[in-house]
Amino acid sequence: MPYSKKKVNNCLNIRDLRALARKNLPDAMFHYMDGAADDEITLARNTQAFNNYELMPNYLVDVEAVKLETEIFGQKLDLPFFLSPTGMNRLFHHEKELAVARVADSFGTLYSLSTVATSSIEEISAAIDGPKMFQIYIHKDEGLTREFVQRSKDSGFAALCLTVDVPTAGNRERELFYGMSMPPKLRYGNIIDFLKHPTWTSKLLMHPDFKLANVVARKDVIGKGVISLMDYFNTQLIPNVTWDHAQWLIEEWGGPFAIKGLLTKEDAIKAQNIGASAVMISNHGGRQLDSTPAPVDCVAEIRDAVGDDLELIVDGGIRRGTDVLKALALGANAVSIGRAYLFGLAAGGEFGVLRALSLLKDEVARGMALLGTPTVKDIGSKHVRLSKTSVKS
Ligand SMILES: Cc1cc2nc3c(=O)[nH]c(=O)nc-3n(C[C@H](O)[C@H](O)[C@H](O)COP(=O)(O)O)c2cc1C
Repeated sequence: MPYSKKKVNNCLNIRDLRALARKNLPDAMFHYMDGAADDEITLARNTQAFNNYELMPNYLVDVEAVKLETEIFGQKLDLPFFLSPTGMNRLFHHEKELAVARVADSFGTLYSLSTVATSSIEEISAAIDGPKMFQIYIHKDEGLTREFVQRSKDSGFAALCLTVDVPTAGNRERELFYGMSMPPKLRYGNIIDFLKHPTWTSKLLMHPDFKLANVVARKDVIGKGVISLMDYFNTQLIPNVTWDHAQWLIEEWGGPFAIKGLLTKEDAIKAQNIGASAVMISNHGGRQLDSTPAPVDCVAEIRDAVGDDLELIVDGGIRRGTDVLKALALGANAVSIGRAYLFGLAAGGEFGVLRALSLLKDEVARGMALLGTPTVKDIGSKHVRLSKTSVKS
């Protein structure tokens, strides 16, 4: 049973793609993607925070040829947004990370591959020539961390990002409630749900490639590739990662380097002082510490503190082109999307990711024309202000 391109094309925005993803996926998979930590206060805040800002347009500006080009990590991108690392994409669609990377490449933007991906560093490198970033953790096995660095270099990755907001796994209650497992298992409790999603379930049986592709060759327990994410985080990663580890990794890598998961100006200044070239202002899409602020609310303060040299990326809650514009106007060099492309992947594989990126690209281009900003560099602080009226969407 094929995924429906017609249904994907009927989606007019990321919210529609989310609704189609919900229909296509069994509960455990959908809630693993959509859910977040504890009471999901941060998850809600990440998207709603954008509603607190107003865009201030200037008219009678020549916007006939709007240009979306942006530079980040020394790479020229055709879009001011790129794709954040997300683990285990095979859970959402059998075309998995490879499909997402191909679409990012076709849009001329950067693709980030997660450590816990179901496609490997080498597979992604063979599939696309475009700019790629590898997302790394500091593992208890120092040799494995070094191995990831070397493999990323050998495979032509342009940048490395160290995710620092996972000193322990977040408490994601939807995963526990719906019995999320890797690989997904048919059980008495979920068989009816799986049968209600025949397309996804038939692909589960036809393409059972649910392995953590980056560690599959290892002889130890993680080489089996079937360890749960929570177990991976709690058994494989060192819980006491410090600035010394980050500095060591920056030196080991020797190229464009982002620290992902910072929210305060103090930490951004430390990142700058140890030689990071970028900070991804992020709370892991609300999946780690609940009650943290929305990344978009942190960017102006951090920009003021670090000046212009450190690249800032806003990651969290981006669902509309106007969200991208607000983040850029507040001081970000670029933004990064997670669930927005995952909803597309679950809605229709590669075709769905294409739809997600097309929608966002069109929204950004239209928004720039309406804002009176023909290039990304034209977007500045005068184009945004806090609203006196709060609106829920
Ligand atoms: C299903 C899922 C898996 C994720 N896996 C990772 C990961 O492996 N590494 C990482 O640094 N961040 C991971 N993230 C966080 C994203 O990189 C990003 O910070 C977050 O999705 C941004 O919020 P948004 O989904 O609202 O755009 C994941 C997010 C989701 C939704």
